[in-house]
This record gives sequence, C-alpha cells and structure tokens, in this order.
Amino acid sequence: MQISSVAVIGAGTMGASIAVALISHGYPVILKEANDDLLKKGLANVDKIQKKRIEKGLDATTADEEMNRLTGTTDYARIADADLVIEAVPENIDIKRAVLNDIDEHSDVNAIIATNTSSLPITQIAAFTRRPDKVIGLHFFNPAHLMRLVEVIPGLETSPETVESALAFGQSLGKLAVRVDECPSFLVNRLLGRYMNEALYCLQEGLATIEEIDEAAKQFAVPVGPLSLRDMNGADIGLAVAKFNFQEYGERFAPPEILEKMVERNMLGRKTGSGFYIYDEKTGQKQKSNPQIGEILKEIKTPKSASKFDVERLFLPMINEAFIALQERVCAVEDLDPALMAGLGMRRGPLTIASDIGLKETLDKMEELHQTLGERFRPALLLKRLVWAKRATIF
Ligand SMILES: NC(=O)c1ccc[n+]([C@@H]2O[C@H](COP(=O)([O-])OP(=O)(O)OC[C@H]3O[C@@H](n4cnc5c(N)ncnc54)[C@H](O)[C@@H]3O)[C@@H](O)[C@H]2O)c1
Repeated sequence: MQISSVAVIGAGTMGASIAVALISHGYPVILKEANDDLLKKGLANVDKIQKKRIEKGLDATTADEEMNRLTGTTDYARIADADLVIEAVPENIDIKRAVLNDIDEHSDVNAIIATNTSSLPITQIAAFTRRPDKVIGLHFFNPAHLMRLVEVIPGLETSPETVESALAFGQSLGKLAVRVDECPSFLVNRLLGRYMNEALYCLQEGLATIEEIDEAAKQFAVPVGPLSLRDMNGADIGLAVAKFNFQEYGERFAPPEILEKMVERNMLGRKTGSGFYIYDEKTGQKQKSNPQIGEILKEIKTPKSASKFDVERLFLPMINEAFIALQERVCAVEDLDPALMAGLGMRRGPLTIASDIGLKETLDKMEELHQTLGERFRPALLLKRLVWAKRATIF
C-alpha cells in the first residue's frame, strides 16, 4: 500500500519527533493530542525541534514548508483520510487499548495502524482492533527525526502486505528499516540491556573505575560510555527496563544490585544531578565521577571473576544475546550489526566484534566466565556450532 498521508497520535517526546521525521520527508501529518493544552504543548515540542534544526543549518523557508504540512488537532474525525496512523501515547496497556479502539473506529478501514511501543506486545495491541492484519510495530528511536533506525515488528496476525508497506515507509524516511520478530524489548534494546547490565557488574566487581569503563567502551565500539548513557536515560528507567527483561528472559538478564540502590537514593543521573557522575546544577555539565558510588559498592557483594578489567567482557553478553536472537530468527543475520550500529551508533556490531575477537576465542572467554559467573555467560548453541564448524565468521 502506498502511504501518502499520516496521522500521529500523541505529541510527547516521541510523537513530536516522529512528526518532524515525517514532515521533513514530505508527508502531510495530522498530529492528534488529548486536549487543547496538551496539543499546544505538543506543537511547541515540534517548534523546538525545528528551531534546533534551523540552528544546525536547515533554511527557514524549508522549515516553513515543512510546518505547513503539519496540522494539529484534538479531534479523531481528522484522522479519517490517513493511510497510516502511528500511535505514540504513554507506555500503558490500558491507555493503548483505549487509543487503539478510537483509532480503529475513526480511521479508514484500509489504513495501517502502527504502534511505537518499546515493550508492549504488538500482537496484544493488534487485538484491540478489528484489523489485526493491518497493525504493526514501528519502533522509532529517540529522537526519531535524527536516529537512523526503525524496527518493523509484525504481530502474529500482521499480513505480509502490511509488513512490506511498513518497511518501504521506514525507508522513505531515509532510515534503515529492519524487520524484527516480536520478542520482549525487540532487537536493539534487548541486546543493549545485556551490555548495560554487564557494565554495572564490572563496576560492582571493582574491576575498573567509572571513567575507565566508559573510556574503554568508547575506545572499543560505542559513541558514549555505558555509565554516562545510564545517567542520560536515568537509573529509574534503567531499573524498570532491567526488571522487565529479567521477568521476560530470566536469569541471564538479572539486574545488577547497584541500580536498585541508586534509585533508592534518588541518584537517577542527569535528571537529579547525581548518578555515576555529578552534574552542575545550573549548566547540567558533567563534573566528575560520584564518590557516593564507592559507598554503595561497599554494600554489594558480587562474585569476583577476574583480577583485571577486559573491555571485551562488556560486549560478550551482547554478543551472546545476538547469537541467541539469531537462533530464534528474530532478524536476518545481515541486518543485525547494521541495526545495532544505526540504533546505538556503534562503530561495529556484536557479530563483527565476535569475528574480530575470533569466534573460538569468544567462545573460550564465554565458557570461562560461565564457570565463575554462571548463566549470563552460558554460550549460545549457535556460537558453539560455528566454532565446531571452524567458521571464522557468521557472515
Ligand atoms: N521516550 C523514548 O525514548 C521512547 C523511545 C522509543 C519508543 N517510545 C515509546 O513511544 C511511546 C510514547 O512515549 P513518549 O516518551 O513519547 O511518551 P510521552 O508521555 O512523552 O508522550 C505521550 C503523549 O501522548 C499523549 N496522549 C495520551 N493519550 C492520548 C490520546 N487519547 N490522544 C492523543 N494523545 C494522547 C499525551 O498527552 C502525551 O503528550 C511509548 O509507547 C514509549 O514506550 C519511547
């Protein structure tokens, strides 16, 4: 199906930046909010993004043309002509149910309905409508107008035509659109979760300082160190995500203790001025690592696995999860690294890192850590099979 007009429901963090991604690629957009005040706020969110883009070089005439494609509304009747409706309302299943019911009622019967949920099951959301074959996950990353990846996640009943249209639509926004099978946290955040946890386990073991971990990760493959990234997103969000993944996947996603202790102390990161680092109250600038972390670490007993820090250890759980996801056929082999690179800004993806280390060496390291640290490092069968077959790489 050719998509020529789009409605976005919800103009918060994601809805506003999705709207910008759309208008900047020529789509007319209806942006729907719950009431007039929230709509005003939502349109101000869009304005703010546009001002930033102008500061960074977008010419004012183009920005005006783009804004002319945007219509704000609080009335569901206005979505009737949209070929695609993207919901970006809060991550709460009851809110999603109510909104999906409304979208189903007011949109064209042939329109595709996409959800931007980060964690709720697409199949469950699709079942809130009378057209589950036309419902799909379009998981944009924050901020949607800048991040290059969109995960396209079919539910159980989603039709192949809907998947094709969604992939083509994602590409039309200049993004890498990757088909991902429905699984908790989808692909990128699932793999990210394992790596974020491991950074905290390394810290808990006292293998390296906060700065050393961040610096080593940056040198190795990522644009921002994991502890700085945790401070950006907030320990509260990090804990909720870690608990969710643990509940869904079990032991290998066990949340590191430090996260709960930081949340108890309101050390949420940038938003409270105190996390792994301390931030200047006025400017928000990062100042130095937080000495309070040392106090927390004294309260935590973690099994010791090694005497010195090895940066590869940070990425081994992510690599292992990549192989597990491939075993489950969550995505195509050739899509995995590009998705991680586009979604997280990594310079090389986990499969490439594994080949660079050497698949046999990767497996040896994992088996050794499995002996001391348990489930987190139980090697994926696919990795073992590649080593048995003496393959140098999965590609
Ligand atoms: N924030 C992120 O980094 C991020 C990244 C990827 C995906 N997501 C997902 O995107 C979705 C939205 O997240 P967010 O961070 O933008 O939330 P948000 O709270 O910033 O925005 C949600 C908006 O939806 C509006 N809303 C609620 N009910 C509505 C209704 N009936 N009609 C119209 N608007 C309504 C709210 O007023 C609010 O402005 C969630 O499912 C979230 O999991 C978020």
